[in-house]
Amino acid sequence: MTFTVTSLSAHTGAEINGIDLTKPVDADTRAALNRAFIDHHVLVFRGQKLTPHHLLDAVQLFGPVFPQHNARHKIPDCPLVHYISNQDTYEDGTRYIPGEGYHTDHSNDAHPPKATVLHAVTLPDHGGDTQFVNMYLAYDELPEATRRRVENLRATHVFQSRHSGRKLMALSDERKAIVPDAVTHPIVRPHTETGRKAIFISPIRIEGIVGMEERDALHLLDELLEFATQDRFQYRHQWRNGDMVMWDNRCLLHKANGDYDMSQVRYLYRVMLKDELAAADASVGRRTQLRA
Ligand SMILES: [Fe+2]
Repeated sequence: MTFTVTSLSAHTGAEINGIDLTKPVDADTRAALNRAFIDHHVLVFRGQKLTPHHLLDAVQLFGPVFPQHNARHKIPDCPLVHYISNQDTYEDGTRYIPGEGYHTDHSNDAHPPKATVLHAVTLPDHGGDTQFVNMYLAYDELPEATRRRVENLRATHVFQSRHSGRKLMALSDERKAIVPDAVTHPIVRPHTETGRKAIFISPIRIEGIVGMEERDALHLLDELLEFATQDRFQYRHQWRNGDMVMWDNRCLLHKANGDYDMSQVRYLYRVMLKDELAAADASVGRRTQLRA
């Protein structure tokens, strides 16, 4: 099976052409796609037309599925696949824009997902891009003093940080019983497959830095985020109908943009993949225990 890999920026993103994800993929092609994922961090498969069940089969070329914490947006007849829609509202009726603000997905899990996959079903005419920043590069280019300062720090991640301006859809009581109250992860977290160091932060989830005063922790997190989200570390994805885009949560932050005509529908399928190599680098407990 032949396919082409075309870089989408100098450091992040590649377009894959020549693969129909509704068809079987042989072992050599599967291995080559997994290598491309590690090398490029974002893979864009153009021109796919996938049902939720097709998508579920296709993503397992890259590993087993990670069940999402919040069951609110599952597709009824294919519940491991969820949807993202700009038509959803909070309980008070205000519109919910999923994915606004830079973050990495489900970092409040002891073993955060290695990848997230979206498949564009309906898109607005303009806007709604997804921005990615490369946290390997951001780490490599940190000023030496900052790099030394963050090298051994751990951050506490929770479902919804009280410091976050963005409000997530609440978990059901049943889900609250399953989702950890809090976990800690290193701020400099080696990628579980490559071992390469990347900055691992997620402002909507982080409550604090272990052993650091809250004001200092928030200041440091702001400084890291501002540094990491510079344009030079960014790949900005402009969606086309039929795109299936998967990205590596271990070395990227991403955010959605709510900059389009909200009378138009933006609807995508979403599924995440487990990081089978994520081992004991997380501590799990009550947030009161993990704070300091
Ligand atoms: Fe996200």
